[in-house]
Amino acid sequence: MSLSLSGDQPEAPADADDGVWLECIECGETFAPFDDVRYTCDECDGLLEARYEELPTFDEFEGEGVWRYSAVLPFDEGVSIREGATPLYEVPGLENDIGVETLRIKHEGMNPTGSFKDRGMTVGVRVAKELAVDRLACASTGNTSAALAAYGSRGGMETLVLLPAGKVAAGKVAQASLHGARILEVDGNFDACLDIVQDLAEGGEAYLLNSLNPFRLEGQKTIGLEILEGFLADYDTVPDRIVLPVGNAGNTSALYKAFRELVQAGELAESDVPKLTGVQAEGAAPMVEAIENGADEVRRWEDVETRATAIRIGNPVNAPKALPGIRETGGTAVAVSDAEITDAQRDLAGEGIGVEPASAASVAGLRKLRREGIVGDDERVACLTTGHLLKDPDAAAAAGADPEPVPADTDGVLEHLQN
Ligand code: F0G
Repeated sequence: MSLSLSGDQPEAPADADDGVWLECIECGETFAPFDDVRYTCDECDGLLEARYEELPTFDEFEGEGVWRYSAVLPFDEGVSIREGATPLYEVPGLENDIGVETLRIKHEGMNPTGSFKDRGMTVGVRVAKELAVDRLACASTGNTSAALAAYGSRGGMETLVLLPAGKVAAGKVAQASLHGARILEVDGNFDACLDIVQDLAEGGEAYLLNSLNPFRLEGQKTIGLEILEGFLADYDTVPDRIVLPVGNAGNTSALYKAFRELVQAGELAESDVPKLTGVQAEGAAPMVEAIENGADEVRRWEDVETRATAIRIGNPVNAPKALPGIRETGGTAVAVSDAEITDAQRDLAGEGIGVEPASAASVAGLRKLRREGIVGDDERVACLTTGHLLKDPDAAAAAGADPEPVPADTDGVLEHLQN
């Protein structure tokens, strides 16, 4: 079974809870959503998705932020720190330079903890409360740990995070630390951290809030809904393409789900669905490899490396949801070098938009695809920037100009400025 845009709305099983249930994307088995803790299918270990009896219509959304979309979320409200409602910036200089009809930047770095992860956590921590668990855990390249720590403490729960030692940007570790997470530094990469935390979760040690958790992706789905509403308000049409950085492929899966639900509801024509276009760093590009080879499965890369540490991931666990998303929407995936990522980070900074390296991958990827002619000059494009510049101060300082030492007197400063 592969997730398709034109799939019918399934019927609610008897054990649905208030019109919400979980369904396996592989074998179609359904489960009550909040009776037991479950991350994958009991029958075949496939990935799960949340399903709703009611499909979304644009006119029933009200309020601001993630919970504006409660009609397509498992609850009406969550453990909130006012996440979502992020800016969709115009960037006329960059739009002209890259050469597309329209370019807008959806800056998810403007969320409470500085990344899109907050959207997933407001929902995920609400579900954790429903399940009455007391400890939350995740593996992380940094941002998930910061969001989990903040939302966990807001929800009054203990948090445990597993980070790849030496490979997490300073701002993110600082956030997880101050928000009170217990931080375990693992002598291995992110994929090893995720293997371990999955074992811990299976053993009942903690509730897993990585994007393997289907409820996290429900919150992240609202990025797609906000982009569509923003384009409809400004241009009376949805974007042709959404370009986003890919690590575990959670966002790619979440946006695809948002579009599928709108198509099923008759709110979006199948032919209008934005082309989902994923960007990875060359040193960590298993999704790009799978798209280029037309493969059904993604090969796990054991050795990954990139300056964009947020997407330093070799085993994208959401690939079975994301590959059909890229293919069915007519999108593609592309790899960019660290140098191209840094250039794009500078380009965005030049428009006043401060992002961390992984975020800039979207703009670097768009530039490359435009140069190759895969993206046309008539396209309306939204690029997702996923995290704030201050997440990775070292990368920002390295990409920017060096401070200049001067003496502590005006004459000395003037003399320096004249040189
Ligand atoms: N951009 C940033 C800034 C991220 O932190 C991540 C993922 C991604 C992009 C990739 O998103 O996994 O949905 O494809 N960060 C995770 C973390 C893995 O632990 O913070 P994805």
